[in-house]
Amino acid sequence: MKILNCQSDTKSEPWLQGLRAALPEAEIYDWVPGAPQADYAVVWAPPQQMLDEQTHLKALFNTGAGVDKLMALNLRPELAVVRLEDAGMGVQMVEYVLYAVTRHFRELGAYEQAQTETRWAYRKPLRRSDFPIGVLGLGVLGQQVAQGLAAFQYTVNGWSRTPRTVDGVRCFHGAQGLNDFLAASRFLVCLLPLTPDTAGLLNQDTLSRLQPGGYLINVARGGHLVDQDLLDLLARGHLAGATLDVFHTEPLPSDHPFWRHPQITVTPHTSARTLRDETIAQIAGKLQALAGGADIASLGGVVHRQRGY
Ligand code: NAP
Ligand code: GLV
Repeated sequence: MKILNCQSDTKSEPWLQGLRAALPEAEIYDWVPGAPQADYAVVWAPPQQMLDEQTHLKALFNTGAGVDKLMALNLRPELAVVRLEDAGMGVQMVEYVLYAVTRHFRELGAYEQAQTETRWAYRKPLRRSDFPIGVLGLGVLGQQVAQGLAAFQYTVNGWSRTPRTVDGVRCFHGAQGLNDFLAASRFLVCLLPLTPDTAGLLNQDTLSRLQPGGYLINVARGGHLVDQDLLDLLARGHLAGATLDVFHTEPLPSDHPFWRHPQITVTPHTSARTLRDETIAQIAGKLQALAGGADIASLGGVVHRQRGY
């Protein structure tokens, strides 16, 4: 089995070492223009040239959960795309979202400010029931986040494309369920894949349907948000703030208003990082299954090309 590694902005040596240790029978090498034809590729945001040259590939193993960058390329229809399933991302996403929710609900920013003024200042406890949380996307990560928040006794709503049942979460689905879901939520957490159906979904219309004093946490993709609509709703006071981990352009340009907005917290696409060991273990497990005769379609995480996730 020949496997090539092609991950932009990633040091390849530790990946090659890890993959070779996990798959000693395989021939594993980095892609460079003109590299020998491989059977499978481990990828993150590969160049179109790699796909154009590597005509023997049967599947791409994406080292992230989101495949929007891959879907934007010109891929042969029969080329399978396998996304990362959790691999240590779920727990990171739960802690990140829980921290953002806690920081806002427990008004920790105000206490941090009070400390800079050496001020011992209590704030009246807020009612948890006044802060219901909506989680857009109830997939691998969204379900864990929704259940993690429910464990902290928040009221949690979830929204997916098809009907889902998640313990402790009130589930809505489809276009017909979206407005009721939004009206029932004050925090909004986005964990949708970026597809033609979900691009720009966080906009003036949807965000203004959140309960007054709404708070947005976008940990999915920058393309879900209409930036100016968020700024307008913050200026109007309908939204109280936002924590944003993902942006249309990354790194976020230094002159973007989000950087300096007092109600916006910015982090550099770090809410759930790809963990190399866990990722190699998961991908190697799937490649071993293929080497043992399994059909690609039987693997977990195979992307539905039409749906885009
Ligand atoms: P997933 O397992 O594919 O789950 C996607 C969820 O979104 C599913 O519940 C799906 O509905 C729902 N959905 C998709 N299209 C929809 C639509 N048109 N309307 C309503 N619901 C829709 O994905 P995941 O592993 O949870 O990851 C979600 C996203 O998080 C990734 O695509 C990636 O962009 C982002 N991410 C970000 C980071 C970061 O560091 N910021 C890290 C990892 C992932 P069904 O259940 O009905 O299919
Ligand atoms: C990161 O954003 C991922 O999609 O894994």
